[in-house]
Amino acid sequence: MRSLIDILDLSTQEIDSIIDVAADIMKNPAAYSEKCRGKKLATLFFEPSTRTRLSFEAAMYELGGNVLGFSEAKSSSAAKGESMADTAVVVSGYADIIAIRHPKEGAPLVASEKAYVPIINAGDGGHKHPTQTLADLFTIKHEKGHFENLTVGFCGDLKFGRTVHSLIEALVRYSGIKIVLISPKELRVPSYVKRDVLEKSGTDYRETDSLESALPSLDILYMTRIQKERFTSEEEYERLKDSYILSPDKLRDAKKDLCIMHPLPRVNEISVAVDKDPRACYFKQTLYGKYMRMALILFLLDEKQKLAEKKKDNRRLIYNRICKNPNCITSTEQELPQIFSVVNEEENICRCIWCESAYFSFGEK
Ligand code: NCD
Repeated sequence: MRSLIDILDLSTQEIDSIIDVAADIMKNPAAYSEKCRGKKLATLFFEPSTRTRLSFEAAMYELGGNVLGFSEAKSSSAAKGESMADTAVVVSGYADIIAIRHPKEGAPLVASEKAYVPIINAGDGGHKHPTQTLADLFTIKHEKGHFENLTVGFCGDLKFGRTVHSLIEALVRYSGIKIVLISPKELRVPSYVKRDVLEKSGTDYRETDSLESALPSLDILYMTRIQKERFTSEEEYERLKDSYILSPDKLRDAKKDLCIMHPLPRVNEISVAVDKDPRACYFKQTLYGKYMRMALILFLLDEKQKLAEKKKDNRRLIYNRICKNPNCITSTEQELPQIFSVVNEEENICRCIWCESAYFSFGEK
């Protein structure tokens, strides 16, 4: 069964063809308005969301399908202690495709192991958010015409900003991409993104805490919100929350064809005065997201019968370690096996297959 848990579950050719379908839907929506007649999408949102959930629902309705689901954990059986795995099996009997947002990292992957229908990861903790990446890629393609040789700046909370992690993974597959990571040092990208994605792909990247100095070189500026809900210390959030505020005066030295993106919601990292600037693309980005989700639903329903070759099957697995990430789905999911994949044989590094965050050597207890 084909699911979308990580953006790398799709090849660049598949992403290109999903973008082509999304562009065609945008031009000719009537041709798609009956494509999902009789089909149901379940949206299981264990964490708040406006854009992503409504965008999925609008996407399914515009394809002629129906939607069922819930928008907060307390109105689901999870509040009674039901596991993700059981929920996935049950909902497979009610829907043809399931979108899941969950605060625990790895939860949609667990669901995809048990479900009988495709699972779409609509955001898992601070980990990944592949459908936002599809929206982001469509925005870049539409605004810039190509992905090659772009300099892309990511600014804000790069540690907890899951949209950033997924978009970096997707972009490094295109040639000549340069990445500038702009954040306070406390909010830099996690090591799995730096080591296994940026360094492994040989991408030209640099880290800085200065938005002003980075701005003139950028083709794309991807602003993000400081993710209050993922901080363990309120004091630390208060100290970092206004690290970057993009205002019209800061944009004076930026390129004339800069594309300013933001996954939204915005708190105050982009001043409202920037909305009038023709370089502001963040509201268009939400609309592009709906068309991409329509194209993705069609793609996964088409693929439903094909057997996916799981990424992790190619790796060596070990089973005798416990994941130390308190946000990992293994901390709450009863009887979920602890499995680690070896990512670097020479340096003895392995990583939890569910949340990917735990690195340690085999010798360590
Ligand atoms: C993002 C998310 O939920 O990760 N928003 C979204 O999906 N549109 C970004 C955020 O919450 O800051």
